Amino acid sequence: MKKIILFSASVLVLAGCQSGTPQLAKSSVDKVLKAMTLEEKVHLVIGTGMAGFSGESAVIGATKSIVPGAAGTTWPIERLGIPAIVLADGPAGLRIDPTREGDENTYYCTHFPIGTLLASTWNQDLVESVGKAMGEEVHEYGADVYLAPALNIHRNPLNGRNFEYYSEDPVVAGKTAAAYVRGVQKNDVGTSIKHFAYNNQETNRTGNNAIISPRAQREIYLKGFEITVKESQPWTVMSSYNKINGTYTSQSRDLLTTILRDEWGFKGLVMTDWFGGDNGAEQIAAGNDMLQPGTDKQYEQIMAAIKDGSLTEKELDVCVRRVLELVKRSPKVKGYAYSNKPDLKAHAAVTRQSALEGMVLLENNGVLPLKDVKNVAVFGCTSYDFIAGGTGSGNVNRAYTVSLLDGLKNAGFNVDESQKEAVLRHIADEEAAFKASLSGDFSVFFPTPRPSEFIPAASQIAASAKANDVAIITFGRNSGEFFDRSSADFELSAKERELLNKVTAAFHAQGKKVVVVLNIGGVIETASWKSIPDAVLLAWQAGQEGGNSVTDILTGVESPSGKLTMTFPVNLMDAASSANFPIDADTGIYFLNRREDIGQKDVDQTDYAEGIYVGYRWFDKKDLAVSYPFGYGLSYTTFEYSAPSVKNDGKTVTAKVTVKNTGSVAGKEAVQLYVSAPQGKLDKPVKELKAYAKTASLKPGESQELTLTFPTAELASFDEEASAWVVDAGTYSFLFGASSRDIRCTATADAAAAETPAHRVLLKK
Ligand code: BGC
Repeated sequence: MKKIILFSASVLVLAGCQSGTPQLAKSSVDKVLKAMTLEEKVHLVIGTGMAGFSGESAVIGATKSIVPGAAGTTWPIERLGIPAIVLADGPAGLRIDPTREGDENTYYCTHFPIGTLLASTWNQDLVESVGKAMGEEVHEYGADVYLAPALNIHRNPLNGRNFEYYSEDPVVAGKTAAAYVRGVQKNDVGTSIKHFAYNNQETNRTGNNAIISPRAQREIYLKGFEITVKESQPWTVMSSYNKINGTYTSQSRDLLTTILRDEWGFKGLVMTDWFGGDNGAEQIAAGNDMLQPGTDKQYEQIMAAIKDGSLTEKELDVCVRRVLELVKRSPKVKGYAYSNKPDLKAHAAVTRQSALEGMVLLENNGVLPLKDVKNVAVFGCTSYDFIAGGTGSGNVNRAYTVSLLDGLKNAGFNVDESQKEAVLRHIADEEAAFKASLSGDFSVFFPTPRPSEFIPAASQIAASAKANDVAIITFGRNSGEFFDRSSADFELSAKERELLNKVTAAFHAQGKKVVVVLNIGGVIETASWKSIPDAVLLAWQAGQEGGNSVTDILTGVESPSGKLTMTFPVNLMDAASSANFPIDADTGIYFLNRREDIGQKDVDQTDYAEGIYVGYRWFDKKDLAVSYPFGYGLSYTTFEYSAPSVKNDGKTVTAKVTVKNTGSVAGKEAVQLYVSAPQGKLDKPVKELKAYAKTASLKPGESQELTLTFPTAELASFDEEASAWVVDAGTYSFLFGASSRDIRCTATADAAAAETPAHRVLLKK
């Protein structure tokens, strides 16, 4: 890739005025486009390359230019006043380098809670406000497009990137992403909703062929993106790495043009995921406007296709225009003088507070909130080494992480630190051993595994049970890009079980309680052990203030109001997708379109044989017992639902319900509206979520009427034969649930038959 020179927009405008050539800041996109040479056009639709990776390896974006550590930049063309704009990850906060060579300043970003926690708040206003804070950092650190949010469906508990994603349900995924986009884009910076689409596993992510029926695509895997596009107008969309029914998504015109633009009305730009796909010319023809981070090979492919006529310059111009439109609306072209000083203090408060609403109280026999507790014993390596968020491009270079130990101390507890030194030494020894074991070119991508569990001597546990009022055990799990989790990671390890059993026995013998905190990014097995401790708090990975947020919940600063956005199955194999997920297949790392031969099973293809029966849709259909159902979460108070009503005027369904706090402390309640359809031509799920809302913080005795609405057209299912969205005529039941298995009241309304045709695309080949 040729050397490029980066420059600032203000200098450009000046140069342009002198020469009379159109300048992007002042001239129309049309004029600039007309003035471009073919070479310039081809450069503009691919990025500026990635240092050290001019060929085709590596995946995470990292450029040294303009904003060091950002994922990529666009191609600048000085004579036309087209600056390079900066694209940076996402989604738990901005990912850039925290330090720069020869510069004493630091560039830390706030590590906000992971996506799954944000979705678990069921609070779209809150997500929007977190997005706004994230966007301020994007803007003030000089980035233009934030590569977030990520909203792929939690198809299986083991997907290594589930922590970045929101839910097994497309309405939760779409509403959460839309709120996030609205928040970020308030700062005049763009977002890139990703990974469009069907990126539901990391194993062979750059070559895997997802085989999915049109109905499951439309109703499950595309629906969240559709909602986000329609409700928030993201500036950009990032296509995914995988194939859909035989075609790379980034090379699928059906997906990127027919569905995204023609059917949903998307007006922005589509970019590839980093090095995604295998043919630059096909990507341009499909409407994948920009290829990131850009390679020489892609440049040659596009040029060759133009020369042999398989791609026309007119087709290329469509994409060039969209890149120009994106650059034109960016802060860079406007010459925004970013401060490099976002308000990190204010954002630390935002992350601490927002995390409270997404933590899910799974069990509580009365021990929480902690009362009359002064002395606390903490167990589990993770209590000392808290996990702020997942690994890979979804990580954030934060300045600090508050551990549970520190959070408890900050709140004034006497924390028993007698084990601290031994635990920290144990963690450091294992980390050193892991680093020493690394070899090979790609070892840089391997994240440090979680330490094995540390179990103090029986005498020490007994002494601790005597000296302290309560025990808190934290279990941690971490994962990220490149790897799916293993089946072993889903279970508690033998050592974790041993720690749980020993600590609980010792504390119970003293008449004292034990709380388990789960500092995890994805679903684990809970059925076999959840009744052993006295409470279980699912803290997720709550960002850099995690220990403070957990402490706030444990002490009752706020009542927990998070609810699960996915099912916790009894067994991993209970999930329908487990039959067709590459469980334990991934023993290494996958590059672009080739797999390193490291002994994994054949994972070239994943058959989504379960169709639309993902998550609760499956568990309901089979009437299977679960450990915790979708939508579940306890509170320190209780709520009563009354006065349900629903109206359908043919355009909008409007449902109302009154929620009353019947307990003794203040709290918020997330109400879920499910629909149960009459029997029609198609097989229907037992129920499907259509809307949700959360009350304000209700004082004991206080009530609030919630109004939940959604378009009547959303009652439709996708009929593959007709290639249309079809609403069956009949009486629909509307279920107001505290969870998918705790329906508090129902109402009914009729709907007339309706059919909305859709293109017959993305078929199985
Ligand atoms: C990830 C994307 C990310 C990109 C740039 C890819 O490996 O899949 O989510 O935005 O890298 O860092």
